[in-house]
Amino acid sequence: MPSPREIAQSVRSFTRKHNSWFKDSIPLIASENVMSPAAREVMNSDLHNRYAEGLPGKRYYQGNIFMDEIETICESLAKEVFSCKFADVRPTSGTVCNLAVLMAIAKPRDKMTTVALSDGGHISHAKIGATGLRGVKTFNYPFDEDRMNIDVQGAMRLIREVKPKVALFGQSVYLFPTPLDEIKDVFSEVGCTTWYDGAHVLGLIAGKRFQDPMRQGMDVVTGSTHKTLPGPQHGVILSDLAKDGLESSLRRGVFPGVTSNHHLHSVAALAVTLAETKEFGEAYAEQIVRNAKALALALHTRGMDVLCEKHGFTESHTLVVDVEEFRGGAVVAKSLEAANIIVNKNLLPWDSSPIRPSGIRLGSQEVTRLGMKEKDMDSVAELIARVARGEDPETVKADVVELKRSFTKVHYCFFEGEEAYDYPSYDGDL
Ligand SMILES: Cc1ncc(COP(=O)(O)O)c(C=O)c1O
Repeated sequence: MPSPREIAQSVRSFTRKHNSWFKDSIPLIASENVMSPAAREVMNSDLHNRYAEGLPGKRYYQGNIFMDEIETICESLAKEVFSCKFADVRPTSGTVCNLAVLMAIAKPRDKMTTVALSDGGHISHAKIGATGLRGVKTFNYPFDEDRMNIDVQGAMRLIREVKPKVALFGQSVYLFPTPLDEIKDVFSEVGCTTWYDGAHVLGLIAGKRFQDPMRQGMDVVTGSTHKTLPGPQHGVILSDLAKDGLESSLRRGVFPGVTSNHHLHSVAALAVTLAETKEFGEAYAEQIVRNAKALALALHTRGMDVLCEKHGFTESHTLVVDVEEFRGGAVVAKSLEAANIIVNKNLLPWDSSPIRPSGIRLGSQEVTRLGMKEKDMDSVAELIARVARGEDPETVKADVVELKRSFTKVHYCFFEGEEAYDYPSYDGDL
C-alpha cells in the first residue's frame, strides 16, 4: 500500500509526464487551447483560494475589494468585445452557462428546438444532459448532411409546428455559420426566445471571422471561454436584453441558480484574455480559419475524405474527416494518439451505431496559437495521413516530436513567445 506521500508524488509525476507529452504532441482537439502567460499568472494567484458570491459591491463575503475591480473590468471587456449590453462572467463553464440560461428562460415541460447530438449538437442541449435535467422537451431541427448544417426550410417548418418557448442554435461540430438570417422571420411569428450557444466559435466571433449572433438578433448567447477564445476553463453569458426581465432572470439563473462561488482566478484570467483578444483577436481568428482550410485541403489532396469539399470544407476552426475506410474514428484516433497527434473520434450524421463513429474531428485553434501557419498544416496533414494509411505510429511519432519542437511558445498575446508548457514546480521528490 503506497503512503500518502508516495501517492501525492505519483500524481506530481503523472502531471509532469502529461506536460512533457503535450509539449511533444500536436494538439488538434477542437475544444481546447492554451492560455497566455499573463492569464496563467493571474490564474495561479491567491484569487484561487477565495470566495465572492454575488456581484461586485454586493457580496456575501468580505475580502473582495480587488476582486470587485477585476470582475467589473472583466464584465465591461466582455460587453465591449462582443458589442452587447449585458455580460455575466461568473459561470464556471459553458455547460454551467447553459444550465443558468435554462433556469432563466425555460420551465419544466417547455418545448425547445435544438440540433441533434448526432448532427453535432452538444450534450447540454439534449435530454440526457442539462436540458433534460431542467425537464425541457427537445425537438431536433432537420439536418442537411451535405452542408453539415441545419436545413433552413426544415427548421422553419419545425419551429412553426412545435411553437417552442426557446429556439436554441449552436453545435460542437461547427463547420459553417448557422443560417440565422434565413430563419429569423419565424422567430417573431411564434414569439420564441432565441439562444445561440457559441461555445466553440466564441473566439472567431470576437475576432469577426464568423457570424455575429448578437447582430443577427439572438436574445441570449452563451459560450465557453477556452476553445477558440483562448482563456481559462470558464463561461460567459451575453445579451442585448431585448426581452423584458431578461437581465434579472439571467443573473438569478447564475446565482443563486447554478453557482455559489464563481472561481475568481478564472474571472481574472478571462479579463486578461479578453484584453488580449481586443489587441490580437482579429489576427488570431483570421489565421485559425486559414489554417483549418489549409489542413482540410492538405488532407483532401492526400486522399482523405474531408467532409464538405463542395462548400470549401469549413469556415471555422473545425474540420471533419470520414475515416471509415481506415477502420473508423475510434481506431484512427487511437493510432494518432500513439503517434502523439491528439484528436477525437466523432459521430457522423449517417452513423448507425453511436459507439462506432466513422469520423474524426480536428481543430486548428491550438496549433495556430502555438504559431503554426498554412505551410505547417501541410506537414501536419502528411503525418496524419501516414498514420491513417497504417504506418507504425512509433515511426511517425519521431517526426511529430521533431516538428513540434518549433511550436511550444504562445502567440497572439502579451509576453508573446513565452513557453506554453512550463509550470511552477519544486525540485525533488516529496
Ligand atoms: C456547443 C457547446 N456548448 C457547450 C459546451 C460545454 O462547454 P464546457 O465544456 O465549457 O462545459 C461545449 C463543449 O464542448 C459545446 O461544444
